[in-house]
Amino acid sequence: METTFTIDNPQKVAGLYFPLCSETGLKSCITPNLGGDAKIDQNHFLLEPVSIENLNNNRSTRNFWVETEHGLWSATGVSAPQEAARYTEEETSRLEAGILYHKMHRSNRRMELSSEILSFVPYDGNYEVHQVTIQNISDRPRNVRFTTAIPMYGRSADNIRDHRHVTSLLNRMEVTEYGVRNTPTLSFDERGHQPGDSVYYVEGMCEDGSKPVECCGVLDDFIGSGDLTWPESLVCHKEDIWQHAGEATEGQEVIGALRFAATILAPQEKKTYIIVIGIASDASEIEQTRSHWMSMESVASSLQATIDHWAALAPIRIHTANPQFDFFFTWVGVQPELRRIFGCSFLPHHDYGRGGRGWRDLWQDCLALLIMHPEQVRDMLIANFAGVRADGTNATIIGEGLGNFKADRNGISRVWMDHGMWPWMTMQLYIHQTGDEAILLEEQGYFESDKRGTLLEHLILQNKAAYAKRGEHGMLRLLDADWNDALDLAGERGESTAFSNAYAANLISLGKEILHLAERYPDKNINTAEGDELIAMGRRLQEEIRAKEWLTDGFFNSYYDNDGNALAGGQMMLTGQVFAIMGGTATEEQIASIVTMADRLLYDESCGGYRLNTNFHEVKMNMGRQFGFAYGEKENGAVFSHMAVMYANALYKRGHGKEGYKALEALFRQSMNFTVSHIYPGIPEYFGRGGRGLYHYLTGAASWYLLTVVQEMFGVKPCYGQMEIHPQLMPEQFDSDGIASITLPWQGAMRRITIHADGTSTMEEV
Ligand code: G1P
Repeated sequence: METTFTIDNPQKVAGLYFPLCSETGLKSCITPNLGGDAKIDQNHFLLEPVSIENLNNNRSTRNFWVETEHGLWSATGVSAPQEAARYTEEETSRLEAGILYHKMHRSNRRMELSSEILSFVPYDGNYEVHQVTIQNISDRPRNVRFTTAIPMYGRSADNIRDHRHVTSLLNRMEVTEYGVRNTPTLSFDERGHQPGDSVYYVEGMCEDGSKPVECCGVLDDFIGSGDLTWPESLVCHKEDIWQHAGEATEGQEVIGALRFAATILAPQEKKTYIIVIGIASDASEIEQTRSHWMSMESVASSLQATIDHWAALAPIRIHTANPQFDFFFTWVGVQPELRRIFGCSFLPHHDYGRGGRGWRDLWQDCLALLIMHPEQVRDMLIANFAGVRADGTNATIIGEGLGNFKADRNGISRVWMDHGMWPWMTMQLYIHQTGDEAILLEEQGYFESDKRGTLLEHLILQNKAAYAKRGEHGMLRLLDADWNDALDLAGERGESTAFSNAYAANLISLGKEILHLAERYPDKNINTAEGDELIAMGRRLQEEIRAKEWLTDGFFNSYYDNDGNALAGGQMMLTGQVFAIMGGTATEEQIASIVTMADRLLYDESCGGYRLNTNFHEVKMNMGRQFGFAYGEKENGAVFSHMAVMYANALYKRGHGKEGYKALEALFRQSMNFTVSHIYPGIPEYFGRGGRGLYHYLTGAASWYLLTVVQEMFGVKPCYGQMEIHPQLMPEQFDSDGIASITLPWQGAMRRITIHADGTSTMEEV
């Protein structure tokens, strides 16, 4: 299936960004005018870090200049005259992007030039490739000269404010045959003073094999009294700034300005330059990678390998009556892979954290991985249990590699009350997907303890420990927050009815699993009394919620605040409804009432569907920072995709496919409505003011969307390793032949499952 998309004049929308990354650690983002940044981790930024506010204002972009008889032209659109003319028709552009590459075409009437810039990060390397083609679109020969200008930040993100100048004194820039490299002597960052371990570089060559004629590596020399949008050296033809291979300068801000030989372009003739920017551990690595980009053929094959790599990682495809939905779903399928690589940091909205993911995200990202690559997850799941403490809480920072955890960030300990429930949710899916129930009997250590136990013991402990922390209304205490990170001010008396539902469901299903396991492994001394006890605990909790937490408004209370009051008074929160439906607390009558009330109080057609809550009009300092956010943004009543998808999932699970589809479809429609959502294909974390999508790409919503489409909409829901299919597709989802299909990996091969409008299905290997 086609996965590329095009957008005309994308620079007319502020705040757009596209992710590029590799399996070896480089994480980049790129805007239509080649802004954005590139880094390996918090301490190794190749380009200056940008968050959403300076994404468009930052001048330190990847820039390519062309000197002509009409003066200077930026092939990326970043020059003072082009910016001044940006609201005219002088320059037009078009973006084409695919999984995962970015190609910008730009054409300027006045300058009579066009450019095409293909950008990608090879999946197995820590460098960006930019293949820049300049074309003379006039009918006369033109004398042109091509120069790159890419400032290399080359240090830790911490140094943006902390020692920005002093860290430039650490720089050791040298000009080489192919460009400019910088090898800082030290790094000043949160780890203390570290000897420099990286080389930052810009290299390039012309398609005919010629190298840059000369380079400038000193940022101040290059811009002179100008700036990066109108550099004095190029505008005023300053010739004394250029250096040659072997020349070096110490202690300056560095730029990769590579000037190529002047050339004559015949009418309509094109010339291509290949420019690479990267981070290497030493000079020899830079030399080794050259063979992968030193010709247009090498670039083409590296691009193909990259496209193939991502396609194999996100292999699920669907076919319904709506090709746009199928296309959207393909991009959603890539997002869990992006979050695996970027974590929850490192794209322009995600300017928090220092990389890595939290506990909850770790387990939920496994959901998608489980469906896409079930064979790879066993070891990972076992390793993840090493983060569970002997008291049922868990480490919150996930380190590099399998099973490496850290207690807390900066020694500030926080307990999120929902953390204990995700592992069993994920394990259940794994067991049904694979039939590998025996995994529960594998042993693992506890975090910061000599104790060991089976995974089953870990799970029982986690769920019982949460259950034991009941508040004054009998619901599980909120502690430092639950799924909603922004409910962080009700640590003493707050309670989460929402997640009490989730734990109740867990206790019941875990109890049942113990009984099932005891039947299958009679010789393992599995304690069935414990299974019975968990089931009874869960059922009691559900009874209590049904009896006491149902509000006269026709939906469930979700929380108690730090003064012990329910968040009631006509206010509705989606989270409490989602887990009551998903976990089985809500009766059929209650579901009907919840759906009616959610449609009345939370549904907003113009914004992607179901909002997270109604407007409290109050900064509830006894509940959490969420109430300080503007209403309609992030956790305060935005359409928060993750919870909206879980609402859909819950409804489908209880057999309400029509209602579930409504929630999924609203998110899809909003996401793909570019003129309003202002995001590229995929699902964002939430929709804010005016229906704009924010925090694009890195969201747990993608894993849940994937899971819900596969297991609920198409109903491909294995039970203990046996394929079962219970579709809940809507009549309008079948194509004109009356079919819909899904292609996904199952037991080592790709299979297509075709669903017919009458509910029957067939499966074939493809
Ligand atoms: C983010 C966090 C997630 C948290 C949610 C609500 O959502 O990553 O852990 O539960 O906010 O506070 P996401 O990025 O998954 O959309």
